[in-house]
Amino acid sequence: MSFNTFGHLFRFTSFGESHGAAIGCVVDGCPPRIPLEAAEIQVHLDKRRPGQSRFTTQRQEPDAVKIMSGVFSDDRTGGQVTTGTPIMLLIENVDQRSKDYSDIRDKYRPGHAGYTYDVKYGVQDYRGGGRASARETAARVAAGAIARKIVPGLSVRGALVQMGPHKIDRSRWDWNEVDNNPFFCPDPVQAKFFESYLDGVRKSGSSVGAVIEVVAEGVPAGLGAPVYAKLDAELAAALMGINAVKGVEIGDGFDTAIMAGEDNADEMRIGNDNKPVFLSNHAGGILGGISTGQAIVARFAVKPTSSILNPRKTVDRYGNDTEVVTKGRHDPCVGIRAVPIGEAMVACVLADHYLMHRAQVGEGTAWPFAPGR
Ligand SMILES: Cc1cc2nc3c(=O)[nH]c(=O)nc-3n(C[C@H](O)[C@H](O)[C@H](O)COP(=O)(O)O)c2cc1C
Repeated sequence: MSFNTFGHLFRFTSFGESHGAAIGCVVDGCPPRIPLEAAEIQVHLDKRRPGQSRFTTQRQEPDAVKIMSGVFSDDRTGGQVTTGTPIMLLIENVDQRSKDYSDIRDKYRPGHAGYTYDVKYGVQDYRGGGRASARETAARVAAGAIARKIVPGLSVRGALVQMGPHKIDRSRWDWNEVDNNPFFCPDPVQAKFFESYLDGVRKSGSSVGAVIEVVAEGVPAGLGAPVYAKLDAELAAALMGINAVKGVEIGDGFDTAIMAGEDNADEMRIGNDNKPVFLSNHAGGILGGISTGQAIVARFAVKPTSSILNPRKTVDRYGNDTEVVTKGRHDPCVGIRAVPIGEAMVACVLADHYLMHRAQVGEGTAWPFAPGR
């Protein structure tokens, strides 16, 4: 199974399955002398961790990360720093319950990866989805925690902005609310509504989708490339690579199709510090595949969980029609735990492009030019 590596200069290779001994990744290309403690990675893993509310799977995984290599604690300078060598991050699986999956061993869950894995590889780990399980995303979140430290001044925050057909009221957006409810929702009123809504979905044995918005601030102007590594394309690929993601938008995304040119193009002025100020951000912080220095705004749509208690028509691996019911533990809305995963993937893309930018053109930007140049 190829393609387990993300990135160009900031690269990580993830390993492990849902019901294997451990998952993790090896991060290659992280610059040396960056202070790094396991606790800084753990903060982000704790946000993604299952079993923290009745709205996510009850699988109990501490997701405790160990840094196995690539760091050094120098007693002359104090504190642990990266050495520039591969950083291996290890997370043990402790709460596997293989028997939950015995009923679906030979049947394909509609909407899950079992059928396509069998078609392609002729072998698939039916226990929790094996490599297709979102347990793999813990490795991404761990790598993302390192990526965040590579771009100076970078902040990457995510929020759930829609559950099923129910959108938040953006006028009530408060980042401080995101950690005050089990949904990473920035609208406290809608978060309250989501409780009863998702309880209803869960009790009916069904599931529901969501939309997540990720905002990256402190992104220097100039990251990205104009053609095959457009920053928007790389972000879209990284976000689309998350399990269950079926759509990605940058800036105003699909809404730009209905806008007039005057309304969509972000006007510019020179600000007090002689830097350009954009009067709006419909572009989501990217023009020509290159960051403008504005906030980068990406949204992604997560489909409803395919493991549901309600019976669905399917086929088995021997070519018979049958029905399937998933009894294992699962999230009624996987979009909730996708929030820290989306943040991590955005951070990884930005760290990767920060390093590529530095490699190609050095620090800073060419603009502004002296008159006549
Ligand atoms: C945080 C998270 C948790 C997930 N948990 C489940 C789950 O419990 N049951 C399930 O059927 N799918 C779950 N998924 C989605 C599957 O991993 C995904 O649908 C499957 O691998 C097929 O891939 P695709 O949907 O990208 O085509 C989860 C996704 C995410 C992001």
